[in-house]
Amino acid sequence: MDLYEYQAKNLFGAHGIPVTPGEVCSTPDAAHEAARKIGSAVVVKAQVKTGGRGKAGGVKLAATPDEAQARAQDILGLDIKGHVVRKVLVTEATDIAEEYYVSFLLDRANRAFLAMASVEGGVDIEEVAATRPDALALIRIDALAGVDGAKALAIAEAAGFPPTIRDQVADVLVKLWRVLVQEDATLVEVNPLVLSGDGRVLALDGKVTLDDNAHYRHAAHADLVDRDEIDPIELRAKEFDLNYVKLDGQVGIVGNGAGLVMSTLDVVAYAGEEFGGIRPANFLDIGGGASAEVMSNGLDIVLDDPGVRAVFVNVFGGITSCDAVANGIIQAVGALAQRGAPVTKPIVCRIDGNNAVEGRRILTEFNHPLVEMVETMDDAARRVAQLAAAGAA
Ligand SMILES: Nc1ncnc2c1ncn2[C@@H]1O[C@H](COP(=O)(O)OP(=O)(O)OP(=O)(O)O)[C@@H](O)[C@H]1O
Ligand SMILES: [Mg+2]
Repeated sequence: MDLYEYQAKNLFGAHGIPVTPGEVCSTPDAAHEAARKIGSAVVVKAQVKTGGRGKAGGVKLAATPDEAQARAQDILGLDIKGHVVRKVLVTEATDIAEEYYVSFLLDRANRAFLAMASVEGGVDIEEVAATRPDALALIRIDALAGVDGAKALAIAEAAGFPPTIRDQVADVLVKLWRVLVQEDATLVEVNPLVLSGDGRVLALDGKVTLDDNAHYRHAAHADLVDRDEIDPIELRAKEFDLNYVKLDGQVGIVGNGAGLVMSTLDVVAYAGEEFGGIRPANFLDIGGGASAEVMSNGLDIVLDDPGVRAVFVNVFGGITSCDAVANGIIQAVGALAQRGAPVTKPIVCRIDGNNAVEGRRILTEFNHPLVEMVETMDDAARRVAQLAAAGAA
């Protein structure tokens, strides 16, 4: 989960990294009040989970509370790269002497962490990396050794921070590393880290990605979830404890096992090319030993998506044998009718593996006008793409 800037900086502050005081606001009036409390010039900053807010007009200086209110009025509702601004951060304006860049991130390819630091921050760091790679120090961090004072100083030195502020920068780096470790983050980034006119090093922006796999270790992180932002279908899927990811195609997918579901997405996208670019509408893995109840929850979620025109149930019987899967599908269709949401879209089933013959027999006998059985995965993908294309007409 990515955090908003204000959430990231709250975490930074809690770990002792110097940040400017501020308040998150969702109305221009609240921005006026926040600026009045701060009592100096402020910056009004769009809170959206995308970069380049400044360039998009989402970061504005305001000398007075009235100006803060007007700037908040301008920024709230703005669309920045497809993200509508619902909140702004009103924070003390800093007299900036220099802008720098620092981050730590998980470097999967090298099975380590990576520190990145540059004295040319503030701007697009990707551009610095591409055009002047020498200006960006990249330092491998051993996961067990971590970042202590000496390592932090080495990073600050490698990036070319002026000796007068190296200690301050190193202190920020040690604390930033602590944020990564203690909060279970996979990325912590400060761009810009600044030197203020009065010689202080401050984090003026913050980007944090928390590791969702560690969510259970952090009760407090639940409060950081922005429910407005999550796709309503994904939210329902979470309530059912289903592993669902919304995509934007037309074929609903239900499968068991992440690998099988991933390859199902591929074959559907491939087969869909022939039918004018039909694509999968979601990823949904109902797991190895899925019961009839889990199957009906899964079908319910997938059929609920207004973009879905046909569904592909692709199950490989293993622990759960195919006859149980077939009965699960039949029960699911019945349960949906009982819930007042009867199936109205075609469902193509491909079941294989343990006791496949019996499973297929059960489904064939079921003889439901909208449920079809196709023997192979490729043929089923082609059939469901064809049905989805026909459903558009
Ligand atoms: N509190 C502040 N006081 C003064 N200037 C600020 C303050 N916060 C941000 N700025 C200025 O605005 C610029 C853009 O701000 P910031 O980096 O937070 O947003 P951004 O452009 O969206 O960056 P990113 O792409 O990293 O999200 C900064 O580089 C800095 O020059
Ligand atoms: Mg920034």
